[in-house]
Amino acid sequence: MAKTIIEPFRIKSVEPIRWTTRPQREELLKAAYYNLFLLPAEDVLIDLLTDSGTGAMSTNQWAAIMQGDESYAGSKSYDHFRSSIQEIVGYRHVIPTHQGRAAERILFGVMCKKGDVVPNNTHFDTTRANVEFVGAEAHDLVIAEGKQPALMHPFKGNMDVAALEDLIQKMGRERIPLVMLTVTNNSGGGQPVSMENVKAVSAVCRRHRIPLYFDACRFAENTWFIKQREPGYESKTPKKIAQEMFRHGDGCTMSAKKDGLANIGGFLCTNDDLLAQQEKDLLILTEGYPTYGGLAGRDLEAIAVGVQEALEEDYLRYRIASTAYLGNHIAAQGVPIVQPPGGHAIYIDARAFLPHIAADQFPGVALAAELYLEGGIRSVEIGTLMFGAAAKMDLVRLAIPRRVYTQSHVDYVVEVILEVWNKRDKIQGLKLTYEAPFLRHFTARLEPVEQTVAVRS
Ligand code: F0G
Repeated sequence: MAKTIIEPFRIKSVEPIRWTTRPQREELLKAAYYNLFLLPAEDVLIDLLTDSGTGAMSTNQWAAIMQGDESYAGSKSYDHFRSSIQEIVGYRHVIPTHQGRAAERILFGVMCKKGDVVPNNTHFDTTRANVEFVGAEAHDLVIAEGKQPALMHPFKGNMDVAALEDLIQKMGRERIPLVMLTVTNNSGGGQPVSMENVKAVSAVCRRHRIPLYFDACRFAENTWFIKQREPGYESKTPKKIAQEMFRHGDGCTMSAKKDGLANIGGFLCTNDDLLAQQEKDLLILTEGYPTYGGLAGRDLEAIAVGVQEALEEDYLRYRIASTAYLGNHIAAQGVPIVQPPGGHAIYIDARAFLPHIAADQFPGVALAAELYLEGGIRSVEIGTLMFGAAAKMDLVRLAIPRRVYTQSHVDYVVEVILEVWNKRDKIQGLKLTYEAPFLRHFTARLEPVEQTVAVRS
């Protein structure tokens, strides 16, 4: 049988992309103050800013959209949404929200109070912000291997179970209203969590009677890594693996913009009747009635179909292989990346790529700017601009939208990255000319530092 892994779809509707010239991109970049968030999207050729809400829907999703029941209460589309999700997660209550962070705000608003502590393998930034917003502390307990970019390990998203035990002993069980596991671990490089780790974390939680929740944004991608890498799961379907994982927890938050294969939406699930009631009360206050939660009936239909498609083997095989394809092709030429390639994105280690640029001159932003100049590619810095001096790494994330780009698009991205790699010595650092008091990376303005001296020998 032929070995080439092809896109498991043919294309029915196309969206043109637009070329710009290098002189145009120089002007555009200057006008955007070297911050790619400030670029008009139509001036981007290949947009790898995020995999969130940027996926392509299938014919079945578009067909389902026409079935959308827009009734305010008791919509049929909600029944489809709930039963499709329940089949996978098995939780009693399924509460729709407009996206993942809305589910987080409601969950932590109901479960946490000032002084509480929430452990997670690694909190995504909106998750951390929502924990801190209610006055609780967010603790990241990923295993030590998960913090070393070049180190190979099959499940770098795992939680350090001994550290979790220690934290519970130190803080006291009553200060920990829930434990969370983020699958896959986005902030740690899109790295998976093993079933063995899920079971171990769950056992600790059950012993201390602390509920375990999943941040399930990329739950389907996580099942594929378990199937490929964990003994005993080779012949299980992704759905069976997902069902097993969710059984070890008590609820989840979800952004349907990722493995829901939808452009908007999310949900919050729980087995706890009392919490569900409080969550629905809060939902009515800010999101909407519990059978739509801020979404249109047609969005609920798209998600109902999308979460199932995300678990199809042909899709997952192609999805994980195409992300690895990008990572392996640039790593083979020496480009330093977070290893092994994650599920939804490749992370370039910008400090290793540009050792002549000090962290306070934003090597990640400088590299992202250069990838745009060279080939019209948009990526995102995760480093000193985003986190300030506290940043432990300067990474550039190339997130792959689902079912959107073909292998030749990825070949082009590889070529552009390698061209930038070959002239890396000439890339300059940047300095800030404007920063907002918080979440500065979205609106920051920068300009090149003129006097950077290359020290590479
Ligand atoms: N949790 C994780 C692990 C995420 O990656 C995201 C979003 C969220 C929660 C919040 O979901 O955007 O629907 O409110 N991540 C996007 C990204 C924005 O680009 O990684 P949301």
